[in-house]
Amino acid sequence: MAYNSIFKPGLFEGQTIIVTGGGSGIGRCTAHELAHLGAQVVLIGRKEDKLIRTTEEIKDDGGQALWFSCNIRSEEEVKDTVSKIFAETSTVHGLVNNAGGQFPSPLAFINQKGWDAVISTNLTGGFLMAKEVFMQGMNRSGGAIVNIIADMWGGMPGMGHSGAARAGMENFTRTAAYEWGCAGVRVNAVAPGWIASSGMDTYPESFKSTIKTLKAAVPLKRMGEEAEVSSAICYLLSPGAAFVSGTTVRVDGAASQGNVAIFPLPDHNNSQPYQGFHRAVTPALFSDEEEA
Ligand code: ADE
Repeated sequence: MAYNSIFKPGLFEGQTIIVTGGGSGIGRCTAHELAHLGAQVVLIGRKEDKLIRTTEEIKDDGGQALWFSCNIRSEEEVKDTVSKIFAETSTVHGLVNNAGGQFPSPLAFINQKGWDAVISTNLTGGFLMAKEVFMQGMNRSGGAIVNIIADMWGGMPGMGHSGAARAGMENFTRTAAYEWGCAGVRVNAVAPGWIASSGMDTYPESFKSTIKTLKAAVPLKRMGEEAEVSSAICYLLSPGAAFVSGTTVRVDGAASQGNVAIFPLPDHNNSQPYQGFHRAVTPALFSDEEEA
């Protein structure tokens, strides 16, 4: 079995593309698709076991991958890791700023330590990665950066720290696109909505039962697939998006465009998922359901 990408074989041949958070979830899926399309992918994350496993999967499938363990919250570690990557490859063509993490909590119960941790992973870390990749080479070669944010358009009740960080990343995307356009660097974002991804299994039990009900609030009446996010990322990295910069693609089944309390959403089965990822793993919380 191979990745069933909608893009042409060899699209990213000869390119080196970094994927942060590449060991699991959307990052892992994206790394697989990019490698299937010919890229050498560089996986970055904190958990070595996940990075090693995904690297081995990609190599078993015939792709090229290497990994570096790095805490993206640390400027020194990011500088050092990016310079190691440039020692391995003369050009970095793409960066997928996907690493992130948060914990559910009402604002009233988030202390400064928790707030700062989420902001530094989901906002500062993405900035540090983009800045270093830009300063250490992309400012001379050009390239494409895709920042993975979230559906935070109406606020993010229950995860306000993450919403604030992702909104910041969306604005950073616009500024970087404008400032770095002169170097031939495009910067865009992808905002996934509710995607059936392994990260969902890391949430507390109480939140997992909420997750199971979420598709009721999606006009397409289903959760999204990791592959549906990956294909948006691949498009933004590709030459087909050569004039697209400073924008965000929402991959959320239109959930962010209205309110189910004002406009009820009928049940239906009219949206078929695109399931291109041959190694997709159904999150355990959905494994007892017929479909996510
Ligand atoms: N994934 C989640 N948090 C991370 C961090 N701080 N550094 C790298 N990858 C991460």
